[in-house]
Amino acid sequence: MNLDLFTNSGEDSSQDASAISKESARASQLRQALHHHAHCYYTLDLPEVPDAEYDRLFRELQDIETRYPALKTADSPTQRVGGAVLPEFQTVRHQVPMLSIRTETDNESSGASAFDDRVRRELGFKEDAPDVIYVAELKFDGLAMSLRYEHGTLVQAATRGDGEFGEDVTHNVRTIGQIPLQLAPGVPAVLEVRGEVYMRRDDFDALNMRQLRKIEDGAKSEKTFVNPRNAAAGAVRQLDSNIAAQRPLSFFAYGLGEVFGWPLNVQAFKTHFDLLQTLKRWGFPVAEQTRCVDGAKGLIAFHEQIASERDRLPYDIDGVVYKVNDLSLQAQLGFVTREPRWAVAHKFPAQEELTTVLGIDVQVGRTGKLTPVAKLAPVFVGGVTVTNATLHNEDEARRKDVRVGDTVIVRRAGDVIPEVVSVVLAKRQLHSEIFTMPHICPVCGSPAIRDEAEADYRCTGGLFCIAQRKQAFLHFAQRRAVEVDGLGEKLIDQMVDSGIVQSLPDLYKLGLAALVQLDRMAEKSALNILTALEASKTTTLPRFIYGLGIRHVGEATAKEFARHFGELNAFMNASEEELLEVCDVGPVVAQSVKTFFAQAHHQEIVAQLRACGVHWPEGPPAERVAKTLSGKTVVLTGTLPNLSREDAKALLEAAGAKVAGSVSAKTSYLVAGAEAGSKLEKAKQLGVPVLDEQGLLQLVEGNSNGNS
Ligand code: IVH
Repeated sequence: MNLDLFTNSGEDSSQDASAISKESARASQLRQALHHHAHCYYTLDLPEVPDAEYDRLFRELQDIETRYPALKTADSPTQRVGGAVLPEFQTVRHQVPMLSIRTETDNESSGASAFDDRVRRELGFKEDAPDVIYVAELKFDGLAMSLRYEHGTLVQAATRGDGEFGEDVTHNVRTIGQIPLQLAPGVPAVLEVRGEVYMRRDDFDALNMRQLRKIEDGAKSEKTFVNPRNAAAGAVRQLDSNIAAQRPLSFFAYGLGEVFGWPLNVQAFKTHFDLLQTLKRWGFPVAEQTRCVDGAKGLIAFHEQIASERDRLPYDIDGVVYKVNDLSLQAQLGFVTREPRWAVAHKFPAQEELTTVLGIDVQVGRTGKLTPVAKLAPVFVGGVTVTNATLHNEDEARRKDVRVGDTVIVRRAGDVIPEVVSVVLAKRQLHSEIFTMPHICPVCGSPAIRDEAEADYRCTGGLFCIAQRKQAFLHFAQRRAVEVDGLGEKLIDQMVDSGIVQSLPDLYKLGLAALVQLDRMAEKSALNILTALEASKTTTLPRFIYGLGIRHVGEATAKEFARHFGELNAFMNASEEELLEVCDVGPVVAQSVKTFFAQAHHQEIVAQLRACGVHWPEGPPAERVAKTLSGKTVVLTGTLPNLSREDAKALLEAAGAKVAGSVSAKTSYLVAGAEAGSKLEKAKQLGVPVLDEQGLLQLVEGNSNGNS
């Protein structure tokens, strides 16, 4: 089937016959594609294109049918609710059809006023008539469900299907903990609750992890899911409810279907908001964000607020839904074909879009890790223009089988890095080539090796590899390491590329003349860099160890090493057994440290850095230090000339002291820097010894050796 419709010819719709025949051909093409995508989405739970693309095609067809009503056909997807009934399930006839909602086309929050205008016009409201009151809800990204209760007992759960006939999925829906199986007395004799079955994002991630493990263990029939909605749809339509029970689903109620047989003392509700409150009382989950709002302004504010909260919600939504609150006004407004006039779905900009893969680059990280990255035709998704998406590693790239030239669905949600969700196989070009990871480093040409137990290929070039060298500079200079203010990626690229620095110690040999030769480097900026470099020479042992960028040695491990060994030489010369004695250090870390210092050039770098003046306070190993300050309480106040508050605290704690926030008679020492205030006064009154930075350093070093 030819689904090549992603670009419209965009021809002018002049009224001549040839234009009409073109529109007619396009409409039939669109109908065919929409049927195909609806089948993939609703029946197979395997969408080929993102929702945004389906919506675009749908709107294009709607637009043609509005301009040329004669082109409307009875089987047009615009004339019915998507979905089909699978023969495996019993068919359920919905006594009250399960409709769809019209989508407001304008993605901006102000688009809400188009809906308010329409409602007011159709109700015949004059301009000075009061605001229409709306209920604003979330548009959950799951699948619609109708729950039928008879005399308070859940007797049937049905999917929407084509809106008139759905599938009986009671056996699976019974496994959803949030759906009450029995309601308290006082509900109508027949009550159909409509809402959305969905999967929380954390549940989805955990499920996919479990699926991956099964696949790795050789389970051929298992698969991972592309998004929570698909996973939810797949679970609901399992024939075996034991499987459904293992897929954690949730539910939100948002409306009613057939209802009759009200108990005498219970009033039927007059507003949609009442209805939702009642559903909540009856035990159904209703989203807490649901609000009653006034007029277009209220809708716009709601849209804006939810858009800003969207990424923090524990589940996916693709927009908000506005509904006229007053049920008598709803009745007055009525329906058009498959949609009520009293409700509209207002979507957010898509988090999934289609684009093409222009190439697959392999990037080299600090520890030599090779990462395949898909270079994409620029696409606006999740609020930014995306041109790259990581493919993580060889296994992941192979699992997704992304190839150059492919059309792919890209997802970017929140601050998460963009990723390729899946390939649109129907659009794959003939003779496309399977991607394979290179076995040599694309930057330095050294062999790239993948250890059996690992997912990643690594360049074996170490600091000879320019890519790794640049990353090593960046790592060393970062705020949490030795901190060279202003030394960022662009500057490092230039410095390494121009050859003015080769290895870390070269940084401290830089002069003004070399720096000002760099692009866009005025004398003032160059001086700032030199000042920052000078300041970075006064550091701490944990920062220095972390800054060396030893593989597997993160910030916390570096702190442990510093605390345990007290001085750098003891750490560098430690045997594997001695390294393993350090808290939380296992064989992988110990081996990595040994390998790092076994290389002469790493020893040389350390020696040169020290020779350039990089220094830090050192002390005896942890056991002996612990005795020096254990049982002592120290308070810090004011600004110290070199050490930050965190560094001073870390040094004291490493020496066994407790660092407290306020001065009392029990305080052993107060360390005071510039602009010390009331704490200093109090310490003086109580006779607590007061130290400056120098005094602090002597204290933690036990008055012994400083750093050479
Ligand atoms: S009301 C007559 N409210 O969106 C109106 N639908 O095309 C019936 N959806 O498949 C639907 N959140 O499953 C309504 N708060 C909400 C919703 C919601 C999600 C889904 C629903 C349906 C589609 C509407």
